[in-house]
Amino acid sequence: MACASRFQWHVLLMFLRVLQGESRYIQMKNAAEDALFLINSDLKRELSEEQIYRRSLRCIDMLSIDGQFTFTAERPQLHCALFIIGGPEDFITIEYNFVNINCLGGDILKVFDGWIIKGEKFPSSLDHPLSTVERYTDICELGKMGRITRSSQNVAMIFFRVQEPGNGFTLTIRKTPNLFPCNIISQSPSGQYTMIVPHQHRNCSFSIIYPVVIKIYDLTLGHFNELQLKKPPPRGCGGTGDFVELLGGTGLDPSKMFPLADLCHSFRGSAQMKIGCDNSVIRMVSSGKFINQVTFEYNQLDRQKEGQEGNSVEEVCYPIDS
Ligand SMILES: *[C@@H]1O[C@H](CO)[C@@H](O)[C@H](O)[C@H]1NC(C)=O
Repeated sequence: MACASRFQWHVLLMFLRVLQGESRYIQMKNAAEDALFLINSDLKRELSEEQIYRRSLRCIDMLSIDGQFTFTAERPQLHCALFIIGGPEDFITIEYNFVNINCLGGDILKVFDGWIIKGEKFPSSLDHPLSTVERYTDICELGKMGRITRSSQNVAMIFFRVQEPGNGFTLTIRKTPNLFPCNIISQSPSGQYTMIVPHQHRNCSFSIIYPVVIKIYDLTLGHFNELQLKKPPPRGCGGTGDFVELLGGTGLDPSKMFPLADLCHSFRGSAQMKIGCDNSVIRMVSSGKFINQVTFEYNQLDRQKEGQEGNSVEEVCYPIDS
């Protein structure tokens, strides 16, 4: 991986760590609010109006919480990006409250439905319902028309350029529930998740942008329950429309990552794998004929420790049997 893009990757990880701290802080604030609710619900109502979280944005920034955010250029800022991430079952909604930029003079304010780094997109073009062009919303073109955009998954991004000091914009970011989450970037390096694709002809990716040890439990692919047991099982996953693949790579785009393993048969119990890549993806391919489901648990892999134990996961990004 080129140095520049590795640098961006590390900036991204650093932001995610900071955000985990920030959301803990906000949870504590919410707990205090809940206590007030017990004392006086009218007071609480007034407070919640007041207590919308507000802060200013930096040129390169990341957000994981709801609130109102303002960017004001202190000097010409040409290449700015805001990464937004929610929980697995969130959509991101962005409302433009106030936009004071010079569109005709070359300023930019664009939302991207997903994340994109060095041309690599999540979700990949193959797995997203919209074309790449449709995934951009240009606020300069919208004018005063649509003042709200919503992402198709738990991540979204905003690109902006503001040349005139003092100019800027204010946005409100909210999460709304996604009943059928499909493509997801994990907010943290460890966790557990159950991916369900119920009778939908679509492919879903869960991306963990850290090297991980992953444990897969209880994979159900609909065709297991059919009378196919009599037939010899198909070799690889070639003959089956429904399967789970594990991918590893150094960029964001699952379609550009290496396939590390294919799981094409249902099983109970667990299977563990170490993936020493910058990005690890669990991708479920579904024909729509079945209800497919897989549960997995993941923990960050300590690449240095692995290296000392004789497994050189740093240079070869592929799974290590364990
Ligand atoms: C899902 O992925 C498979 C294999 O990668 C592909 O053949 C199929 O067309 C994809 N389906 C959809 C709905 O994109």
